[in-house]
Amino acid sequence: MDNDLSAQIEQARFTIAARSHIEPRIALILGSGLGDLADAVTESVTVPYTEIPGFVQPAVAGHRGELVIGLLAGQPIAVMRGRFHFYEGHSMQQVTFPVRVLHALGCTTLLATNAAGGLHDNWRVGDLMLITDHIFLPGLAGHHPLRGPNDDRLGPRFPPMVGAYDAALQAVARAVAAELGIPLREGIYMMLAGPAFESSAELRMCRTLGADAVGMSTVPEVVVARHMGMRCLGLSLITNLALPNGPPANHQEVLDAGDAARPAFTALICGILARIDSSAATIPTSPVPL
Ligand code: HPA
Repeated sequence: MDNDLSAQIEQARFTIAARSHIEPRIALILGSGLGDLADAVTESVTVPYTEIPGFVQPAVAGHRGELVIGLLAGQPIAVMRGRFHFYEGHSMQQVTFPVRVLHALGCTTLLATNAAGGLHDNWRVGDLMLITDHIFLPGLAGHHPLRGPNDDRLGPRFPPMVGAYDAALQAVARAVAAELGIPLREGIYMMLAGPAFESSAELRMCRTLGADAVGMSTVPEVVVARHMGMRCLGLSLITNLALPNGPPANHQEVLDAGDAARPAFTALICGILARIDSSAATIPTSPVPL
């Protein structure tokens, strides 16, 4: 994929654009158990990932694997119902390829959602968390989507990640949550490779390193979106408490929590979408001088 990334992006973009009369401006990635929000999209066109060149096949229960383009809260949107995970065996480039394509389709804003384990014992299953920053453990260890040759047409070689989560979008999320009476926690999301849930010692490490929630997604997509200058917002649904002395996490509770929290989550996302200025351009990512 690295050799001719731009050509692959264009092929996928062309395939999708040929099917939809709406040019999406906002990309929404729906995490584990949250995919049903895609049903609320109107004037929708659905493109299964299997029909998009360059996309890989999703494998996890709860991820349907389709792109839904249409209108949500009045906004032209591309919704990813299901995403690709590193733990499925895909490369970081494969995991983030859809974000490249959504940017090529016209999306300048990325709203990424996920299921996450909460690292605080006073948090509750079903809590929503605004992601204020991230720790990209696999990326720091060398599994980074921008590793390898850089295509300067897409973004700079050394993109900064300070302020990756757009301050103005975070302010919108806080305001909407307050108006709707939805409690919104805030914190730092740490991405781990998975697929095993963390050991007790690893959970202690995550807390020591400053994380508030742990998960297995989102950060690669945000990094690539920022590489291209997209404005990013991240929201986590706390599906389980990931506590060193607590019960072990399991995938079913992750999916069940999605069911219970869906109304608040849906209201929050639609409220945020309605407030986003989707005519806003990307924010050019300035190269970091060496
Ligand atoms: N750990 C890692 N990823 C997760 C968790 C967790 O506890 N919950 C949801 N995704």
